Amino acid sequence: MKKLQAVLLGAGNRGCAYADYSLEAPSELEIVAIIEISDLRLKEAGDRYSVPESNRFKDLDEFLAKKIPCDFVINATMDEIHYETSVKIMNAGYNMLLEKPITAKKEELLDLQRLAREKNVKLNICHVLRYTPYYKRIKEIINAGTIGKILTMELDEHVWIAHFVDSFVRGKWKSEATCGSGFLLAKSCHDMDLICWLNNMTTPKKVSSFGSRSLFAKKNAPEGATKYCYNCPHNETCLYSAQKIHVELDPMPFQTWMDMNKPLDTITKEEKLEWLKSHEYGLCAYESGGDINDRQVINIEFEDGSTAMFTMVGGTSKPDRFIHICGTHGEIEGRLEDEKFIVRKFDRSGDKFGYDEEIIDVSKEVHASAGYVGHGGGDYAIMHELVRYLNGDNSSISITSIDDSINGHLVVYAAEESNKEEKIVRI
Ligand SMILES: NC(=O)c1ccc[n+]([C@@H]2O[C@H](COP(=O)([O-])OP(=O)(O)OC[C@H]3O[C@@H](n4cnc5c(N)ncnc54)[C@H](O)[C@@H]3O)[C@@H](O)[C@H]2O)c1
Repeated sequence: MKKLQAVLLGAGNRGCAYADYSLEAPSELEIVAIIEISDLRLKEAGDRYSVPESNRFKDLDEFLAKKIPCDFVINATMDEIHYETSVKIMNAGYNMLLEKPITAKKEELLDLQRLAREKNVKLNICHVLRYTPYYKRIKEIINAGTIGKILTMELDEHVWIAHFVDSFVRGKWKSEATCGSGFLLAKSCHDMDLICWLNNMTTPKKVSSFGSRSLFAKKNAPEGATKYCYNCPHNETCLYSAQKIHVELDPMPFQTWMDMNKPLDTITKEEKLEWLKSHEYGLCAYESGGDINDRQVINIEFEDGSTAMFTMVGGTSKPDRFIHICGTHGEIEGRLEDEKFIVRKFDRSGDKFGYDEEIIDVSKEVHASAGYVGHGGGDYAIMHELVRYLNGDNSSISITSIDDSINGHLVVYAAEESNKEEKIVRI
């Protein structure tokens, strides 16, 4: 297998999760250039991946002008510049691994699909859950016909309260108006992709959806709540206290403290507490200026008559992704966090009228196969499979053409239209 060369565009949290594969498997991947607007992150990532100074860029156009050869570009910039950067990268003839969400606009999505075909470049999307041992095993069981033809699918996504507050109440995805993505696109496009990929003997046809932001709204702030948490009389007991969540729990330091523009391990607790007195991460959760929904449901009908329903909840006591698929011969049911699921098969042999049950435990696969376990092993596995795919190995069931990778996004756009305009939307 040939060792591949990749270029990293956007050396933030996600970009480095993928580029770390070059440290995990140095005989398979090398990062040969980095494009990053932040001086600090360009230096940190440049040093981490041993990229020569001459191949560290602050501007995409500057990199493109140099015509540096590589096997693919990792585009891990933020949502709102995915389209413009991806057009430039594909026009220059590079294969690309693009972070989800691809884009918030249907015309742009279809344009990227067209451009990938026209330029004959491979465009892969970071739908990392497809690559986890958990969902891959489910997909294999469906493909083997074990549960027969899919009739219905039920999926839930419960986003843990500290994660939700850090990313979607005070964080950089809190506002559709500024980030470009609503909650469904920013978070649940993974789940929409799973639904469409697992059921890809057919395609989604009709969508309806309801959702709102009703918890994190000014009307729910307790009496006497102040603009910032640090001097609020409720700070000791409030579930959404900035000091409790961001300083004590600190679930996502790479995003909470990013604007401080200092190496994370040099930031003291005192500096964090001071920062929260005036920064958006210190704002009252009920008045943080966010506009995205904090709960939403989606119903989908597919061309073959099968159906799917999905519920997302922002702010739960524990993170959880539930799945229950009913087919003509049996069922699959489980929770991603348990690292196991049940396969039930109807048993109508002899006098019997019941079912057999088997528990599929993937915990050993998650921890044994993955060099690092972000997203249930998906962050590592996507790179492992991509490197092989770009070397000509087409055996991955998770890697599909861009045509198959956009259906989940089309469902999200339809769901947002349905919810906002109170109608059933045809895809
Ligand atoms: N696959 C997943 O499960 C998953 C999880 C979280 C986030 N994401 C997505 O990944 C993407 C990146 O998120 P993140 O949390 O890593 O963000 P981040 O802010 O940590 O990283 C983005 C980086 O891009 C840099 N950047 C911005 N504009 C640039 C430009 N013009 N040229 C070069 N660099 C530029 C920023 O300075 C930053 O370092 C987003 O689209 C996000 O929605 C995906």
